[in-house]
Amino acid sequence: MASRWGREGIAAPGVRHERRLVVRGVRKGLRTASGEVREILADVSFEVAPGELVAVVGPSGAGKTTLLRTISGLLAPDEGEVRYGGEAVDDVPAWLSIVFQDYSKSLFPWMRNLDNVALALSGMGRHEREQRAAGALERVGLGAFARSYPWELSGGMQQRVALARALCGEVSVLVMDEPFASVDALTRTQLEDEVLRLWGEMGFSAILVTHDVGEAVYMADRVIALSSRPARIVGEVAIDLPRPRDHLATRQDPRFGQLYGEVLALVEGVGRPAAGGAPLPGPPAAPAVPPARHRQEEGDLP
Ligand SMILES: Nc1ncnc2c1ncn2[C@@H]1O[C@H](COP(=O)(O)OP(=O)(O)OP(=O)(O)O)[C@@H](O)[C@H]1O
Ligand SMILES: [Mg+2]
Repeated sequence: MASRWGREGIAAPGVRHERRLVVRGVRKGLRTASGEVREILADVSFEVAPGELVAVVGPSGAGKTTLLRTISGLLAPDEGEVRYGGEAVDDVPAWLSIVFQDYSKSLFPWMRNLDNVALALSGMGRHEREQRAAGALERVGLGAFARSYPWELSGGMQQRVALARALCGEVSVLVMDEPFASVDALTRTQLEDEVLRLWGEMGFSAILVTHDVGEAVYMADRVIALSSRPARIVGEVAIDLPRPRDHLATRQDPRFGQLYGEVLALVEGVGRPAAGGAPLPGPPAAPAVPPARHRQEEGDLP
């Protein structure tokens, strides 16, 4: 894997585990209400190295959520296997956490944020659970909101609570299904940076499903593109942009535009652009806002 902090060689916190996640030959069909079995995943194989951040992009309805549910042990593959360091994944394992798109469905409105986070912890006394949950909320900048309820927070803050819950245990693999799709564009840039910061600090591997090619290129070490249903991998692009990344500098880097074009070409089914060929459409302009960390320093939470 490329150094997570890129070419500058800025001291990288250690990756905490040495296991690879292996998805091999996975096929999955789902039964519709009329009883017909529809093929969703057709022979999907890829690996995620320890500490690697892999983004998965593909058309709507391709089977991305089905793929994540299969990787997470929520669905059993019809054929093929998911293994982690040799261990078969056949139930949601303790080392894996999932963040879904819709935070309003993943947080219980009648429970304080602290208790929502503590739900992920078991096998310890109440005091320790609460301490750990409070620490996880601190880590996402919500220490002051531990005693509040989710409905007292903005959408972006609620998704941070969901993130704190996902990361409060001993997580080696974080799986995210369009985690920023329900928040506004400015909050989205903040949350992207928040996840990158936590990933850098905590050393977990991550799989990020997103519709947003720019987000995939901005965040990932590698982007995998899926075909429309039944999903197959149509190609992948290694993202060699330096880290740490920054919304203004990274998105203005000419290399960002090239990589964006390569991924978009895969998603749109036109393959990799030929060298010297016609230029592909460029990425959206960098957001006209200061990087998230500046706003966070000013205490302006979403
Ligand atoms: N429980 C189910 N039973 C039958 N078909 C299903 C079920 N869940 C999903 N599907 C079908 O599987 C296909 C893939 O769905 P999936 O949710 O995995 O796609 P997706 O790539 O995540 O889409 P989106 O980008 O819109 O989130 C869709 O055609 C959907 O209709
Ligand atoms: Mg989906």
